[in-house]
Amino acid sequence: MKLLVTGGAGFIGSNFVRYMLDAAPEDDILCADALTYAGNYESLVDLEANPKFRFRELDIRDKNGVDALFAAERPEVVVNFAAESHVDRSIESPDVFLETNVMGTSVLLEAARRYGAERYHQVSTDEVYGDLPLDRPDLFFTEETPLHTSSPYSASKAAADLLVLAYHRTYDLPVTISRCSNNYGPYHFPEKLIPLMIVKALHDEKLPVYGDGRNVRDWLFVRDHCRAVHSILADGKAGEVYNVGGHNEKTNLEVVKTILSALGKSEELIEFVEDRKGHDRRYAIDPTKIRRELGWEPQVRFADGIGKTIDWYVKNHTWWEHILDGSYASVRPKK
Ligand code: NAD
Ligand code: DAU
Repeated sequence: MKLLVTGGAGFIGSNFVRYMLDAAPEDDILCADALTYAGNYESLVDLEANPKFRFRELDIRDKNGVDALFAAERPEVVVNFAAESHVDRSIESPDVFLETNVMGTSVLLEAARRYGAERYHQVSTDEVYGDLPLDRPDLFFTEETPLHTSSPYSASKAAADLLVLAYHRTYDLPVTISRCSNNYGPYHFPEKLIPLMIVKALHDEKLPVYGDGRNVRDWLFVRDHCRAVHSILADGKAGEVYNVGGHNEKTNLEVVKTILSALGKSEELIEFVEDRKGHDRRYAIDPTKIRRELGWEPQVRFADGIGKTIDWYVKNHTWWEHILDGSYASVRPKK
């Protein structure tokens, strides 16, 4: 199978490329990424020697560039991870979120339709469902939960999802969508909660916790998400949405305290700061559909996954130090 992975130099995309090279060594993987601030070629550079892996620097908003890539490569399957993904940045500067997440998705869908892709998979998020109240632990997001977004980021992801489903209904494009909860693991850009707190704790800096720290996220080890996308590509039904999550809800404060304790640092490093605007209170996925229809189950417990993640950041300190000093941006693919 010839697989086009867009956004493969980011956190989940780079983990997915590695996962697929292991899980489906017969597949040819072409990774396309614009290498924005969140794209990091250092996360992929060791794969250059693998004949099943190739990389193209490409912006999914560039219609002509995307068309030329599809004309030359004719990917059978497209998995779109490319997005602006950080909620705080979307609150500061929404425009690029609409351009990449909505218009970029539209460019990819059009190319997938014109060149007859056998599957277009959109990597979406549980944030399209909005949030749940803290005092109703019985409530979960199902695939039928109405879209009810809070931030420019989640609104742009929901708009993209609707466009993907419209391409199925109108043009019969064989699409699937996954809506996953918060991921954590290696290669996570240190602006997001878990890697940011690990890096700050290692430097004995203050750990900024928004609001009261009681917001809840439903954490999933990134490789479990990659396995879920793989099983949707293999056995998912065109036109369907699959929620992905492992019933692993934690408050932000619990997560931060776990990191401090694992690193032997004092909780006095915690600093409560101004809350995020429109801050979603709780996310919680009901993964019944993907479990029942595709037999997917998470394999990594949080206690193990967070330990592995912290170890990875300790051992691979040059990876995030290059982000902090900006030198990662000069690691580029060979022409
Ligand atoms: P990320 O920010 O780490 O990576 C995004 C990648 O997309 C980067 O490599 C970036 O260079 C690339 N990109 C951005 N704009 C582009 C453009 N215009 N053209 C081509 N490439 C572009 O994001 P992530 O956390 O790996 O998330 C990947 C996908 O998964 C996103 O679609 C996100 O909405 C979704 N998602 C993320 C999580 C999570 O917890 N991180 C959970 C559920 C869903
Ligand atoms: O749920 C899936 C989503 O998870 C993805 O769609 C997004 O792309 C991804 O970034 C993530 O969004 P969150 O907003 O949940 O992740 P973030 O790491 O930014 O924040 C997690 C929680 O931690 C959230 O409640 C805000 C809080 N937080 C975050 C940062 C960066 C803090 O308290 N302090 C911080 O410094």
